[in-house]
This record gives sequence, structure tokens and C-alpha cells, in this order.
Amino acid sequence: MIGRAVDFDALAGSYDTLRGRSRKKLIPWVEEIVSYAHIGERDEVLDIGCGTGRYTELFAEFCGKAVGLDNSSGMLSRAIESPAKGVDYVMSNALYAPFRSGSFDCAVMFMAVHLFEPRQRQLLFKGIYGLLKKGGRLVIITESHARIRRSPWRYFPGLLDIDLQRFPDMATLTLELRAAGFDTARKSVKKTFGDVPTKEYLARVEGKMISTFSLMTEGEFRHGFEIFSKKLTQLYPVSIPEYQEFVLARGTKDG
Ligand SMILES: C[S@@+](CC[C@H](N)C(=O)[O-])C[C@H]1O[C@@H](n2cnc3c(N)ncnc32)[C@H](O)[C@@H]1O
Repeated sequence: MIGRAVDFDALAGSYDTLRGRSRKKLIPWVEEIVSYAHIGERDEVLDIGCGTGRYTELFAEFCGKAVGLDNSSGMLSRAIESPAKGVDYVMSNALYAPFRSGSFDCAVMFMAVHLFEPRQRQLLFKGIYGLLKKGGRLVIITESHARIRRSPWRYFPGLLDIDLQRFPDMATLTLELRAAGFDTARKSVKKTFGDVPTKEYLARVEGKMISTFSLMTEGEFRHGFEIFSKKLTQLYPVSIPEYQEFVLARGTKDG
């Protein structure tokens, strides 16, 4: 396993700038999740690993109440900078979430499951199962190993080794959800967002737009970035088609 943990307090200041906080890019995913998780307008939704709340506040537009939970004070202080209607934030480790059993209709984890090691995930999924009402849904938005292998990140030396270790593969994730009691389903979804100038994209990469970079030494990052930027400029001299592709893994609590 990767020995070091990502320090999200240190990433909080630049998180939204590097990842993006425009509705244009966020709403398509929120709509996708609302539909896949059957989120109703009175439902209470728990956003686990909510970070700066960029999705939490949008979930609140579709449901009765959204609660964002995160264990990084840095990320949460960004979240509360823009208070939104129907949203609460709670600082806690998701493994010990301070809510009563059966509190939520739905739980969402957007790009957060890879931050939990296998043994933690067992505890996490059992805990989430307990927090959901009967018939409640958990939706995990993550990357499959197939997608990691074919993404442009494959040109960044060292990156694949780290991400293939920390992202659970889909078969494992499904087994873990079933072991916690969930009925499971999943689907892959790709959203395209037009082209972005190559220079602008590379500037975001150089700003360390994904947390994997904070698990590399500065030397590894600089070396990798040099190779990656040469390759990408060769392939896309002017602009790069921007897209995001995730797997939505759904667990439903029946009993
Ligand atoms: C990659 S960020 C994703 C943030 C948000 N979901 C988004 O997509 O913008 C992962 C978040 O999970 C949080 N996190 C990691 N481990 C956690 C834990 N054990 N309990 C609660 N939050 C955790 C981090 O602090 C970070 O804010």
C-alpha cells in the first residue's frame, strides 16, 4: 500500500481552482447521481468526503437536506465560505460518523473511496449501511482500473503504479459492498466538456491538480511532468478534449 496519506489541509487553498467549481462541469454529475440514486426532493443526503462542498451544495438543490462530512478542517473551511440553503457541514472521520442509525436516504462518496485502505473500507461500508434508512442508497463515484490504464495519466511516469494501488478495482469494491449487506449495481459514465487549451491544461497539471502528485517526491513530480508535458504537447499541440469518466457503484440497503 501507499505509505503516506494525502494532506488535504495543504491542498485546500488551490483545490477548487485546480479541479474546477463551475456549475457547467459539476451539475451533469449531480444530475447523474440524483437519477442513479433516486434522490427525491425531501431526501436527506450525506456527502462523505465532501471536501470544499462543491457537490454538497448542489445536491441540496435537488433534495430536502444535504450534509457534507469531511475530516479536513482546511477543506471544510473553504466549504463554509459560501453557505448554501439546506446544507450542513460536519467535521469527522467518516469511519466514526456521528449520526443516528437510519438517518439518511442516500450517501454519496465522490472521489473519496480510494482514500480508505481495504480494512477501513469494511468498517466504512458497514457504518454507512447502518446510517441509511431501509431502501437507502449509497453511490460511490470512482475510477476503474481500466479507465486509469487508458487515461492520459499513463504518460506520467510513476502515476499508474500509485493509482492502481490505491483505487479499489470494481470486483473488489462490489464484494466489499455486498459483505456490508448492500445489493449492488454499477455503471460507467463519461461526460465531455469541449476543448481546453493545452497550455492551460498543463498549467493545472503543474499546479498538482490531482492528489496523487502529493504522494510523489518533488523530484519524481518534476521528472514526470517534463515527460508528460512533452508527450501531451506532441499529441495535442493546441487544445485537449476535456472529459471526465467515472464508475458509479451503487449499493442499496434492502432489509
Ligand atoms: C479528493 S477529495 C474529494 C472532495 C469532494 N468529494 C469533491 O469531489 O470535490 C477527498 C476528500 O475526502 C476527505 N477524506 C479523506 N479521508 C477521510 C476520512 N477518513 N473521513 C472523512 N473525510 C475524509 C478528504 O479530506 C478530502 O476532502
